[in-house]
Formats: sequence, C-alpha cells, structure tokens
Amino acid sequence: MILADIEKKLFTLHTKNITYQMKVDEYGFLLHTYYGAKIENEDMSKFIQYLWRGFSGHPYEMKNVEGNFNWSLDTLPQEYSTYGSGDYRSPALHVINTDGSSDCDLRYNRYEIIEGKPALKGLPATYGSSDEVQTLKIELLDKISGIGVDLYYSVFEQRDIITRNAIIKNGGKGKVWLERAMSMCVDYNIAPNFDLMTFYGRQLGEKFIERAPLRHGKTVADSFRGSSSSQRTPFMILCDNNASETQGDCYGFCLVYSGSFLSEVEQDQADQVRVTMGIQPESFRWELNSGDEFCTPEVMMSFSSEGLGQLSRNYHNIIHHNLTRGKYHLSRRPILINNWEATYFNFTEEQIYKIAEDASKLGIEMLVLDDGWFGKRDDARSGLGDWFVNTGKLPSGINKFCQKINDLGMKFGLWFEPEMISEDSDLFRAHPDWVLRTAGRQGMLGRCQFVIDMSRKDVVDYLYDSISSVLKSANIEYVKWDANRQIANAWTALLPAERQGEVMHRYVLGLYDLLERLTSSFPNILFESCSGGGNRFDAGMLYYAPQTWASDNSDAFARLFIQYGTSFMFPVSTMGAHVSACPNHQTGRISPLETRGVVAMSGTFGYELDTNLMTDEEKEIIKKQVETYKKYYDLINYGDYYRLSDPYKTDRYVAWMFLSEDKSKALVNYVQVRAYANAPAIYVKLQGLKEDSIYIVNGKEYSGRSLMKCGIYFGSENGDMIAKQIEVVEK
Ligand code: GLA
Repeated sequence: MILADIEKKLFTLHTKNITYQMKVDEYGFLLHTYYGAKIENEDMSKFIQYLWRGFSGHPYEMKNVEGNFNWSLDTLPQEYSTYGSGDYRSPALHVINTDGSSDCDLRYNRYEIIEGKPALKGLPATYGSSDEVQTLKIELLDKISGIGVDLYYSVFEQRDIITRNAIIKNGGKGKVWLERAMSMCVDYNIAPNFDLMTFYGRQLGEKFIERAPLRHGKTVADSFRGSSSSQRTPFMILCDNNASETQGDCYGFCLVYSGSFLSEVEQDQADQVRVTMGIQPESFRWELNSGDEFCTPEVMMSFSSEGLGQLSRNYHNIIHHNLTRGKYHLSRRPILINNWEATYFNFTEEQIYKIAEDASKLGIEMLVLDDGWFGKRDDARSGLGDWFVNTGKLPSGINKFCQKINDLGMKFGLWFEPEMISEDSDLFRAHPDWVLRTAGRQGMLGRCQFVIDMSRKDVVDYLYDSISSVLKSANIEYVKWDANRQIANAWTALLPAERQGEVMHRYVLGLYDLLERLTSSFPNILFESCSGGGNRFDAGMLYYAPQTWASDNSDAFARLFIQYGTSFMFPVSTMGAHVSACPNHQTGRISPLETRGVVAMSGTFGYELDTNLMTDEEKEIIKKQVETYKKYYDLINYGDYYRLSDPYKTDRYVAWMFLSEDKSKALVNYVQVRAYANAPAIYVKLQGLKEDSIYIVNGKEYSGRSLMKCGIYFGSENGDMIAKQIEVVEK
C-alpha cells in the first residue's frame, strides 16, 4: 500500500511486514525517514537528528537560517544523493553537465501513484498485476541544469518486496554525461551493529558466503567483467550482528542485472550507513542528449525481522512468481540427461542415441545435446558462431535426430553459446569486426574465443536469425545458453571515442534484446542459462531463462556449499543440478549415488553421465530417484525452503527442508558429511511447522512444537556423504 500525505509531503510504503518512508523537507530535499519492520501511520521524520558535524556544509540558501550548521546533505538521510552537492558519501548520481561541472541539486517536483508496475524498457524486471503491485513515482529536478530523476518504488505488498530504480532525464539544452547512475540509495540514520553478507566465488566454486561486521568507509562487492560473475554476486544482506536463520532484522538487496555492477555499503563518520547498488561506474559513461533519458536496472529490496530464512523465502517467492516467465515458469520441468560429462566433445550420434535410449527406460524425460554438435567443433578452439549442424558428428541432421529422440518418448534440447565467436570459424572469417576488441589490437582470448559485439544491432539481428533457423528446424524444447568467458577490450567500431564508455551496458542491452526476441518467438522452449556454470547466475538472466546451471562443479559435497549459498537469494526451481559420475570429474571424490540424487533433486533435477556404463543396481537407484523427484516435485519446487544447518559451522552434516504452503507436509533432507566414531547425537530442529499439529515421522507421532524445539535424530552411519530423506506429514 502506498500512502501519500500531500500536506506533510510524506510518502509511506507498506507491505505485509515492512514500512518504507520518505519526506520532502522545507527546502524541497527528499529525505529518507525509515525502512524496517512495519510501523503504521507515523511520521518517522522525528527520528532524524540535526546535529553539528564539523566540515559538513549546508546549501547557500540557508546562510541566514538559525541552526544551519546542523543541516547538511553530508549527514542527512537521503533518497537519491548526488555527487558534488556537499555530500561526501557515495553518491547515487554523478552527472557531468554541459559546462563540465558536476553540480546536481535535486529537489522534489511531483509524485504519481500508478496501479501495477511499469515495465523497464529493454531491461528485465519484476512484474505483477494491479492487484499485486502498486508503484510510487517521485520526480526530482535540478532547476538550473534541467536534469530530472524519476524514482520508482514498486510495492509487492503480499511478498514483502519493494523494488526500486531510477530514470535520469536530460531536460536541459545541451549534452550531459552520466558517470554514475545507481539504481538506488538507502540511508540508515539509525544503524544497528550491522553485519554485511556478500557472496563471492570462482569457477567451480560459486556463491560462497562472507559475513563480517561493517566497518567505517566503503565495502564494495562488484564486477568489472561485463557480467555479474561468480567472483561477486549482485546480491547482499545487511543484518543484525546476531541475526540467524530464524531471528533478527535482515535487509536484502538484489540487483536485476547481468552486467558489471557495484554494490557498495558505506559507514560514515556518524556511524550512519548508506547502501548504493547499480551499474558499475568504473566502466561506464553515458551520453545524454537534450531530451534523452537513461533507465537504471531494478533492485529488489526485502526486509525480514524473522531472520535470514524468511528473507530468502521472500526472494524465492518474488523470483518464482513475479520475475521468471514463460511456459515453464510454473509448470513441471522435464528431468533431463545432458551428455557433457558423459562424452565432452568426443561423441558420435550413435553414442548419444544410446545414452538417450537407456535414460528413457529409467524415466528420464529429455536429452540435452551439449557443446560440439555444430560447425567445426571438436574442441574449444573452433566453431563458435557457426550455428549449423556438423554432419560429421550428427549425420542425421538436427531434425531427424530430434525425431529419433522424440520417438523414444523424450524431449530434445540443444546447447548454444550465442555471445561468443571462435577465431577459427566461418563467422569470424566473414566478420572480423564483429568481435568486441579495440581496433589495431589483438584483444584478449578466453577459452580460445572472443566475445561478439552485442552492442551492435546488426550483430544481434544476425544472431537472432541464425539461432532461430536452428530452433525452427526441429522440435527443440530446451536451450542451454552458455557464455564461457567474460568481457575485456570493451570497444566497438560503431561508437565514437567519447562514447566507448557505453559499450559494456549496451552489450547487456543487446543480450537482453536477443533473449527477449528468442524467448517470445519460441515460447515453448525451456531456456537454461549458464556461464561455465554459475558465472552469470543472476536475477536478470532469470527473467528470460527460468533456470541457471548453478556450477560446473557437480560434486555432491561441493554442491552442498554452492546450493546453500545460492539458496539465500534464488529458489530451487532456478538452480540447475545434476547427478554425475564418480569419481567426480572436478574433485575426484566418490560419494554414494543416493546422496548425489538427494543433493541434485534440490534443484532442477537431471543427470550428466552415461547410464550405459552403470550397473543394473545403479540403474535401479536412478529409477527410484526419478520416481522420488516426481513424487515430491510440487513440494520441492513450490514449497517453502528452510535451511536447517550451516555447513560453514559444522563438517558433520547439512540439512534442509521443503514445506508445503499449508504446512501439512515436509520433506527433510539430511547429508551426514563426515562420519565420526562414537559421535554425539545430532538432532535437526525443523522449522515453519504448525506448533499444535501432530505430524507423523517414520510412523511415530510428534507435535510440530517438539519437532521444532527438539528436532529429528537421523542416526549415525559409517561412511562420509550419506544422505537421508524423511517425509513429515500432518496427521
Ligand atoms: C561450460 C558449461 C558446461 C558445458 C561446457 C561445454 O563449461 O558450463 O556445462 O556446457 O561449457 O563447452
């Protein structure tokens, strides 16, 4: 709900459990007054303290006002701060004016309440009907330069989510340049002892968690790589320093963007905290001609006073229901088998067919043909860009081969890496200038490939046509959209020197344009994004592809950490997870097939091995896994997710559960990570149940209260990586 008190110029946003408030002060500055647990009908501006802080100046117009020494943009909480205004903290906006100055004096101009939520032109964003979401638009204006900023706040009341973004408009006469245009700025004038949680990683080890007390100065989590990256995820949490899964105030910030980004938290001289998030300014400079506007990507903000678990569930719900789209957004996704770890590049049509044939007998529903089916592609050195079938490897061609797979009762999916080009490819030979690199320089290679210049419309058009013609040629029902390197040498032949700072963002816009066109032209295809695993697992990509291959590391032990970290922001329905062969190809570890299944089925389940090489006993286990996954599909994919342990705190076990919306049924998953002889008993406390209800667990009756206070004892087994699943059903 959005409340606008015109007289007081007070704007209050309420969700089920959250209040966010701002107020225009007597000088026209838009001050932030509150963000946190719900407080009804109160003007929170009384909590703003006007205190003297040396070396923090005030605007000229206050020169004769009493108390002016206590009024400074450098210390007051603001909704959208600007560089050069006397606020020395991190700005939301830095404009270079036509005359080269950086002044930008934004004052309140007008507001509007919109039922529903306007789309963001060319950018991914949450969506919802006018029953679900309302939007407040506040216009700020610098009367001298004509620069205007429209701040958008969309309130998803039932989901406890508020989204923010800004549109910067050049209403002046001359050209200006944006040096920094953040999506949002949130100031905490009453800042508790915050911890900051960020998510870092690397290839084969994505979404590790770092939690540390906030310190003075700036703490940055960002990417310069042209993509969001596994090195840093565009998501962070500020929480009470004693917040846990089940208690404490927690604030989440999730950027819906797939390019270079910046998340920054700054604790200032007065212990106040500012959060800014948006496009990475380091590689960004955007020219705005008179009348032009620039739209920043959206940030999904959420708050929970009930700990990290609820914060995550808020994100799971909004992403599942109001961000992902398409046919498979809410319908059952097929259990797939992918040939990559079974064959790598080295396969024949016959071999792939045999994998499919065998897998179909086990209940697996789709074959995904990975890298190597096109152009001249026997290894990573060539072929990218040549999206036509390699008949040496696939003599039947895509259509006939797809039919053969369909005749087995299976769907067929195909791998692409649309944004890349190999030097040894027909496409490169025809268009060497389509590569993203500086004229006169050779540029950086990554996995022997260049990045295609997606900032160019002609290139995006070409890719649309060439990929569409493959997708039209057969009954392809799934696409794996890979991207196996990141951007360097961001220079395009089509822009003048002074506009090269636009390339990184234009690349992302080109990528989104291509994805939008392909996903709407082929609505029946399930898209899964991938970037050497989870190197671009972000909310932006999920708008086009409802699932992402979470990591090229398919080892069950490693996945316990990767999927744990990913679960802080993304629901299991978005996390690609496969059972692979043992010894595991990335770590050499051997873990039981049952455990590999339990871990993988806490994601979009599939297999990545050659079932022909398995024993009959192993095949029986796979059959059972497939049945189990189908049985619990709704609970796993649409239920609420609870983390029941922290793998960073104990090496003994990891546990998590899925709970149905009506809390009548749960599936508890437990992996004994390490066996210890004569070990103390572990009781795993469940969460979210109805306290007074009776639940049946392994044939015995327990109250919801006792299961949550005392927990379930899973026993102690000999051997590492032993998994168990227990069903909990209300009597
Ligand atoms: C990336 C993907 C893998 C596989 C290979 C193919 O590494 O993450 O799953 O598709 O590319 O080259």
